[in-house]
Amino acid sequence: MNNEITINGDRFTIYLTEDQIKARVKELAARINEDYKDKVPIFIGILNGSFIFFADLVREISIDCEVDFLKLSSYGDAKISSGQVRLLKDLNCQVTGRDIIVVEDIVDSGLSIDFMKRLVMKEHPRSFRVASLLLKKSVAKIEFPIDYVGFEIPPEFVIGYGLDYAQKVRNLRAIYRLAPKD
Ligand code: IMP
Ligand code: MG
Repeated sequence: MNNEITINGDRFTIYLTEDQIKARVKELAARINEDYKDKVPIFIGILNGSFIFFADLVREISIDCEVDFLKLSSYGDAKISSGQVRLLKDLNCQVTGRDIIVVEDIVDSGLSIDFMKRLVMKEHPRSFRVASLLLKKSVAKIEFPIDYVGFEIPPEFVIGYGLDYAQKVRNLRAIYRLAPKD
């Protein structure tokens, strides 16, 4: 695995290795398996960023479950949030009366997850929880907890394992962070 990569002239260094991520995903799944052992939750993945975390997480789930996806857009092609969330693809499942676990790659400003929660709550689920691989706690402005957090990270730009830089590098197996310019 490369410890350093350069994209569009920006240097990124390794932050979370494939093994670290794998171990943590297993721990989160174990907690979910326990918490939902008598239930049949619907995992809702937020596209595109969560697709790899989502696939790895649900393959560690041993209880009955269903999956669905929703597509939001907020970043465009930039490294900084545009501050606007748009719904690009709605849900196909019936949320009413169901136990919902939303799966996110990262909670940054919290705008996307806040938007998502409002959307889901309108349909009156039985319960609502969030699993996010990464949480930038110091910047997230949300009035509800992120129930399953993989890693709390500082407010830095990270890529890989689903997270993009101008739509690229989502396929990297590890997570990298933007290195300071020297
Ligand atoms: P939020 O609405 O600001 O919480 O950010 C939500 C979305 O922006 C995430 O689901 C990601 O897709 C994207 N995002 C936030 N921070 C990063 C980052 O550091 N790298 C890549 N994408 C990010
Ligand atoms: Mg996302």
